[in-house]
Amino acid sequence: MSTQPILEATGLTAAYGQAQILFGVSLTLGPGEVVALMGRNGAGKSTTFKAIIGLVDAAADTLAFAGHDIRHLPTHRIARLGLGYVPEDRRIFTDLSVEENLQVGAKAPLGANAAAWTPERLFEIFPNLAEMRHRRASQMSGGEQQMLTIARTLMGNPTAMLLDEPSEGIAPVIVELMAESVRRMKAEGISVLLSEQNLYFASAVADRAYIIEKGAIRHEGRMADIVADTHLREQYLSV
Ligand SMILES: Nc1ncnc2c1ncn2[C@@H]1O[C@H](COP(=O)(O)OP(=O)(O)OP(=O)(O)O)[C@@H](O)[C@H]1O
Ligand SMILES: [Mg+2]
Repeated sequence: MSTQPILEATGLTAAYGQAQILFGVSLTLGPGEVVALMGRNGAGKSTTFKAIIGLVDAAADTLAFAGHDIRHLPTHRIARLGLGYVPEDRRIFTDLSVEENLQVGAKAPLGANAAAWTPERLFEIFPNLAEMRHRRASQMSGGEQQMLTIARTLMGNPTAMLLDEPSEGIAPVIVELMAESVRRMKAEGISVLLSEQNLYFASAVADRAYIIEKGAIRHEGRMADIVADTHLREQYLSV
C-alpha cells in the first residue's frame, strides 16, 4: 500500500488470564479500505478487535491509529480518535425508537474533515431503518438491530469502524442490505475492518482479507484471490 495505513498492528498478542489467545497478529487498514478478518469460531477474530481497542490484556510492537500510538490508551480515548467499534452482541436500547437510539450515539464532529452524521444522512445508508424510524428497537429483527448498532456508532463520526461479524445470525435478505450499507460507508470514505466467517458477505464488501487461525494470521491477500482459492478456503474457512 502506498498510502499510510489508518490502522496498523504488528506483533499483537493478547491473553485472557493465563490463556494466551493472540500470537503476534499483524494487519493494516488503509484509508477508505474495507478489509475482512476471516476465520472459524474461536480463531481469535473478536479478541483481535478487543486487543486493538484495549478491552483485553494485550501488547504489540506497533498499534497505531490515525498516527497515534494507541497501545496504552483507554478504550474511550481510542474511540474519540475516531475508531468506532461494533461488538458481536447488539447494544441498542430496546425501549427507545430507532431515531432515539441514533440521537444517543451523537457526538460532536471530530474536525473539519469528519462528516457530521445526522439521522437523515444515516437513513440514506440504511434505507430500511428510515421506514421504521419511530419503531421501538425491541420490535426489530436481530439483523435490523445490528444495522441500528452500526448506524448509532456512525453518529459518533468515526473515520474507521471495526465491525465484529456484522452478518452473523441475520436473515439473507438483511445480509444483502448490510452489504450495501458497508459499501455506502466505504463510498463515504470510512475505513472498515470487519470480522467474518461468511465468505459470501466478505466477498461482497471487502477489498482484502486476512485469515486468522489459532490466534495467528495464516494468509493475507486480495479478497478475489481468496474466493478463488479452494484449497485455502477448505483449510481455514468453513466453506
Ligand atoms: N473472556 C474470555 N475468557 C477466556 N477465553 C476466552 C474469552 N473470550 C474468548 N476466549 C477464547 O479465546 C479464543 C478466541 O476467541 P474469539 O472470541 O476471539 O474468537 P472468534 O474468532 O471471534 O470466534 P467466533 O467466530 O465464535 O466469534 C477462543 O478459544 C475462546 O474460547
Ligand atoms: Mg467473535
